[in-house]
Amino acid sequence: MSEIENSILKIDIENCTKCKECVKDCVANLFYFEQDQLQIVESFEDRCIECGHCESVCPVNVIRLKFHKEEELESSSVREDVPIYDKFLNLVLKRRSIRQFKEKAIPKKVIDKLLEVGRYSPTGGNSENVYFTVVQDRSTVTAISRHITERLTTLVNALEGPKGRDLLKKSRSEEEISKVLENLPSIKRKLVMIEKGIDFWCWNGELIIIHGDKVEGGISSNSALAAAHIMLAAETLGLGTCSLGYLTGFVNEYQTIRDLIKIPSNHTVGYCLTMGYPNVKYKKIPARKPLRVQWF
Ligand SMILES: Cc1cc2nc3c(=O)[nH]c(=O)nc-3n(C[C@H](O)[C@H](O)[C@H](O)COP(=O)(O)O)c2cc1C
Ligand code: SF4
Ligand code: SF4
Repeated sequence: MSEIENSILKIDIENCTKCKECVKDCVANLFYFEQDQLQIVESFEDRCIECGHCESVCPVNVIRLKFHKEEELESSSVREDVPIYDKFLNLVLKRRSIRQFKEKAIPKKVIDKLLEVGRYSPTGGNSENVYFTVVQDRSTVTAISRHITERLTTLVNALEGPKGRDLLKKSRSEEEISKVLENLPSIKRKLVMIEKGIDFWCWNGELIIIHGDKVEGGISSNSALAAAHIMLAAETLGLGTCSLGYLTGFVNEYQTIRDLIKIPSNHTVGYCLTMGYPNVKYKKIPARKPLRVQWF
């Protein structure tokens, strides 16, 4: 046998040096040796997550995954210039949530760089199941914010009187209503800020909305990880970002917003970020709680 081939990969067995690196590294344990020959398990095609580790670890380049073109594979050695720890820590410490942006638009090619970082962020089981929606158009951002404000204003007004509460009971569960009532003072405070012209929901920045199929697992963790990577990458490009937890909830809840930015009906939004060129400078790194850790 000079080749192993199936719908996912091809191995040039003749040139395999039998180093067993692929056997040791495959997360799904799909390779083994028998009679001094590399073999793959029968259920390979069902179990392979196409993470590319086997191809990446093989020293003689004899494993090929079929889902990409050969020339797309880049040698890791050209990416060896990674930041040293101190520089990386500086990046982490100096990052602040930015809520004041200049009017300057972000060039598309800069956002492409952020999306490339998002694309390469890890996903559970290498599911690669996150999608990105970029909202650069400021009038759409304003429309999203206005819509949230209008919905909340209507809700708050309805909750002020017993009549409105009775009406709400018809469309919402007791639990939902008591949750809103609990948050009422905080919602009202935000509405006052908004009245003063502050865009509390999106901070008037450009948006990256990260989403994926509702029935697939891990959308929120995968989205959060992609967002975390993007936030740090943004710093290196002179951009500021802010997580938008409220917006994440509202996009999931309000169909009108989903329609505005064409979030597929079978998708859930895992994370929202606002971004732009900062119009604020922080002189100090804020203190944080002491590390809480246990070691065994
Ligand atoms: C999951 C998550 C959701 C957040 N949601 C919002 C939000 O909706 N609006 C906002 O202004 N900031 C939001 N933030 C930003 C936090 O308030 C901020 O990260 C925190 O106060 C620490 O400040 P720093 O990011 O400048 O270190 C969110 C942060 C996280 C991690
Ligand atoms: S792509 Fe990943 S899961 Fe599939 S065989 Fe290679 S190492 Fe194993
Ligand atoms: S990593 Fe490459 S050379 Fe080593 S055993 Fe696997 S296929 Fe053969």
